[in-house]
Amino acid sequence: MPKKRKSIPVLPQWIFQGALDNAKDVILITEAEPLDKPGPKIVYANQAFYELTGFTPEETIGNDPRMLQGEDTDRATLERVRTALKAGEPIRVEVVNYTKSGQSYWLDMIIVPLRDPDDKVTHFAAIERDITAVKNLERDLMRRHETATGEVRRLAKANDIIEASRRQLCELDAENNRLISIIGHDLRNAFTAIIGFTALLEARVKDLSTAQIADEVTRIHRVVKDSHRMLENLLAYSLMQRETPEPRLQPVSVSPLVDRVLGDLEDRATPKGIVLEPPASEHLVVADERMLEVVIRNLVENAIKFSHAGGRVWISGRDVDGHSRISVSDSGVGMSEAQIRSVLDQQRVKPSVGTAEEKGTGFGLILCGQLIRKMGGQLAVRSELGKGTTFELVLERVP
Ligand SMILES: Cc1cc2nc3c(=O)[nH]c(=O)nc-3n(C[C@H](O)[C@H](O)[C@H](O)COP(=O)(O)O)c2cc1C
Repeated sequence: MPKKRKSIPVLPQWIFQGALDNAKDVILITEAEPLDKPGPKIVYANQAFYELTGFTPEETIGNDPRMLQGEDTDRATLERVRTALKAGEPIRVEVVNYTKSGQSYWLDMIIVPLRDPDDKVTHFAAIERDITAVKNLERDLMRRHETATGEVRRLAKANDIIEASRRQLCELDAENNRLISIIGHDLRNAFTAIIGFTALLEARVKDLSTAQIADEVTRIHRVVKDSHRMLENLLAYSLMQRETPEPRLQPVSVSPLVDRVLGDLEDRATPKGIVLEPPASEHLVVADERMLEVVIRNLVENAIKFSHAGGRVWISGRDVDGHSRISVSDSGVGMSEAQIRSVLDQQRVKPSVGTAEEKGTGFGLILCGQLIRKMGGQLAVRSELGKGTTFELVLERVP
């Protein structure tokens, strides 16, 4: 047996009217025609509408809802509304409206067509809710999300930097360890030689002539001096790593400094028959004297190392383009483009062997680079294979 449907009681109109009047959402009813101005004409608005908009019934009834629109009301949304209304279809949109005093608010608006018993759309009813608070919350959340995303991105970046620094530190640490082991080996070799020479001297001193003893002492002296230079470099380098001392920049006279360096390296150059030539004229630069001396000593030592027997090493100074340039040149083996690049790449020590089998850690040049940068200068290299090399120190000129 089919269930009997409960018949819906027909309620008097005042009950519907009361429900609409007292609803908390805005309710607007318009005529269906015309849709263009002056339509759709408002025929009913409930209390919530007047409270929200500030308009009076006199200003509302007979008017059309466009009076609620303004600058921030989205035109594309209104087009969608218009299309739906034309097709007699329901639609739901969110749109910005304005009160009578010009205050904007967000509206969640549902418009439905109302049909007569012949199914003809005679009116539209809109149920509208003020969603400004929700929209503001949404906007705040968006902002917070953006801030949080920005923060996450910043943290990720910071993390990348930390990671890169960590990797750099690891590399530096590995490089330092490599350096210590190379220098350690060099020093051990030097000490082995010193011990050997002195033991020999001690055992045979009575049998040796004064000239022979003098010869032995010269050999010992040379090895001790080389070791001393190596230690000086090592200490200067370790100081740079730990304390990065601020350079004391002042006008420095190049000639006496070069004379000291050349005098010191005479014992290196003489056995190879290399002539060391100081600058032809006096020259002044702005530098830290001690740092400059370490740099020039290393450059001259290098030049001697890579010069053939009977070669020349000469130092010159000149002022160019507002800078002072001190160059250390040699007539030695020279370098290829790749070798120059490798020398200027200050990341790794590259042990090398000179023309007389002189060993070296290559770290003298790393130290030079660091000291020059500390003094605000630059190191440039010009070289040609088989012809020789010029290392040029570009420093501030004495004003
Ligand atoms: C019943 C009804 C209520 C409406 N209420 C609003 C409203 O509160 N705010 C609004 O911006 N548009 C409202 N509209 C939409 C406009 O009246 C109009 O249809 C819309 O701006 C698109 O038409 P247009 O392109 O000619 O402007 C309502 C429309 C109807 C039919």
